[in-house]
Amino acid sequence: MSVLDLFSLAGRSVVVTGAGSGIGKAIAEAVAEAGAGVVCAGRSDAIDEAAGAIDSAGGRAVAQRTDVTDEAAVEALMARAVAEFGRLDVVFCNAGSSDYYKPVHEASREEWDDVITTNLTSVFLCVKHAVRHMLPQQSGKLILTASIWGEIGSDSSPVPGYAAAKGGVVNLTRELALEYASDGLTVNALSPGFFATNIGQDKDVDASVIDVLVDGALKRMPTGRIMEPEEIKGTSIFLASKASDAVNGHILTVDGGLLAA
Ligand SMILES: NC(=O)c1ccc[n+]([C@@H]2O[C@H](COP(=O)([O-])OP(=O)(O)OC[C@H]3O[C@@H](n4cnc5c(N)ncnc54)[C@H](O)[C@@H]3O)[C@@H](O)[C@H]2O)c1
Repeated sequence: MSVLDLFSLAGRSVVVTGAGSGIGKAIAEAVAEAGAGVVCAGRSDAIDEAAGAIDSAGGRAVAQRTDVTDEAAVEALMARAVAEFGRLDVVFCNAGSSDYYKPVHEASREEWDDVITTNLTSVFLCVKHAVRHMLPQQSGKLILTASIWGEIGSDSSPVPGYAAAKGGVVNLTRELALEYASDGLTVNALSPGFFATNIGQDKDVDASVIDVLVDGALKRMPTGRIMEPEEIKGTSIFLASKASDAVNGHILTVDGGLLAA
């Protein structure tokens, strides 16, 4: 097999959650361009547009309306990939949302539960129902979207629930890698730094809080700039393809060097 063939996803069946915008949309475009059939999953009409754009560009994509906190919907999502493409090779557990940017003593129980459910419990549900298809195949790749806030604390705006959830994703990655290594599965995490996406726009957050966050991000970034979603395409293909077969339980930080400081 040639080195370039190692990165091909021809004939693979891939699910991407949160594929309607930002990082998930870029991942869906990338895996389709690399040859995979892709199920674009998400809560809004944006997934129809994302799948339609991939189709128009000559790729194979379908949209599946899915709230990743709803177990029945997640089970149906994984079944849809098998129904469409005959198997399930790769799942990007990527859907997520921000915190409410409140310190713990001001946050409500409902806000905490919402952030943990959206960013951590959703990953448990996606992995659970993906693995049920992958075990009989004795192959599969799970790629969980973590965050640098799952690896270090935030020193700009407070993100307690988000940091706890993403820290959970980081160590869940390692735990799952060990649980399923002997079954031919790999489990790795993409850990983004600061990307220009819609994150946080579903929350009623004061603009000044976002300004502080962005300012803090820019100060921390060695490159002095926020990254674009397209910049995660290469690492996504690496983790989804044969090129990364020997990589397991790894947290691949895509942060422009931020954590090197
Ligand atoms: N943008 C960044 O700087 C950054 C940094 C670190 C980690 N991340 C992570 O990257 C992932 C993608 O976020 P993004 O930055 O592209 O933001 P985004 O808001 O553009 O994309 C997130 C997508 O997830 C979807 N989503 C949210 N809750 C959902 C649910 N319950 N069910 C189904 N879909 C749901 C949203 O509709 C949206 O399309 C998230 O897990 C986020 O935490 C982002």
